[in-house]
Amino acid sequence: MGGDQSAVNRAESASMMGEVPTLSAEDLPDGVLVADHRGKVVTFNRMASRLIRLSAGVALGRDFRDVLPLHDADGRDWWKHSDPYGGLRTRTRQPERTLFLADGREILMAARYVRDIPCGDVCRLVVTLRDASYRARGERNRAEIVSTVAHELRSPLTSVKGFTATLLAKWERLTEKQKTFMLETVNADADRVTRLITELLDVSRIETGRLELRRQVVDLPECARRVVSGRIAGGDPEDRFRLEMHGPLPEMWLDADKLEQIMANLVENAMRHGAGTVTIVIEPHEGGAAVSVRDEGKGIAPDAIPRVFRQFWRTKRRGGTGLGLFIVKGLIEAHGGAITVGRAPSGGAEFRFTMPAGAPEFA
Ligand SMILES: Nc1ncnc2c1ncn2[C@@H]1O[C@H](COP(=O)(O)OP(=O)(O)OP(=O)(O)O)[C@@H](O)[C@H]1O
Ligand SMILES: [Mg+2]
Repeated sequence: MGGDQSAVNRAESASMMGEVPTLSAEDLPDGVLVADHRGKVVTFNRMASRLIRLSAGVALGRDFRDVLPLHDADGRDWWKHSDPYGGLRTRTRQPERTLFLADGREILMAARYVRDIPCGDVCRLVVTLRDASYRARGERNRAEIVSTVAHELRSPLTSVKGFTATLLAKWERLTEKQKTFMLETVNADADRVTRLITELLDVSRIETGRLELRRQVVDLPECARRVVSGRIAGGDPEDRFRLEMHGPLPEMWLDADKLEQIMANLVENAMRHGAGTVTIVIEPHEGGAAVSVRDEGKGIAPDAIPRVFRQFWRTKRRGGTGLGLFIVKGLIEAHGGAITVGRAPSGGAEFRFTMPAGAPEFA
């Protein structure tokens, strides 16, 4: 803090005295390579060094084409193709584009051809470089999400369309039992579509950081009891659930609806993907609380553990979309908590999340 302040003061007094603090290429977030009028590298910042995996000591003084060999998607040597020093004299820049380094990595490159006089010789070539892998990964991810969502929406809608068409065309000829079955299926499929859309909205709020928490004092054991009674009311046998409470809990300030969503999701997973008794353990943890949901099923294979919290990851189709745990993790992290998965003492999966006690939010 003290250091930052004195830097600010220095910058302020420098600008009051009419001096402009000098900007160094090292301060820039992108890789920067500058070549002089002969094409020899004169500036090569740390980021460029990191992206190209070449030290400044090796790069400086060498020809820019040797330091930064680039080719386009068709394998053409980029510098031969664009010819910064010999090409069109009216050209002053190259817009950003994706090119490839010698080892095949993608990189985003833009360039400026600095000329002393318009249409004069190039006196400086300034190249900026950015890592393209994040962008490529993001785009692939988005394309994957769109195709998964389209697929998930299509299957219930196909059945809705099929059954409503049959009901309309053959209403008189269908038995009461057949009609009831078709209407029940349509009803359940409509619920599936609604649930998927609600989940997708949660995902988008989590990803854009727009998740809002309404903190209030919550009773964790009461919340767990409510989730379990909901399951029992929905037809699950009472003896499949066990609740364990240890020690007094501090006053917990959490979003009550989101806490219930987290617990309901973990219990639903334990019922759907696990087996045997589902045990919920609630205990104090580092000034907050920890909640574990255990089952006695097959558990999660160790190599799958890093993947369970990802979007759309699931081992097999059991009516789920694979968004549940991604949302659970997002909701927990929004509270400042964390979730881990491991093996339960009874053999199945154990999902354990911890939550700090939190505090009332003063607007
Ligand atoms: N208790 C568990 N025991 C075994 N496997 C589990 C358990 N909980 C989750 N999994 C595995 O993790 C995958 C991802 O879980 P997640 O809750 O994200 O998705 P889902 O339950 O398939 O679908 P959704 O929750 O979106 O309806 C599941 O498909 C399942 O294979
Ligand atoms: Mg789930």
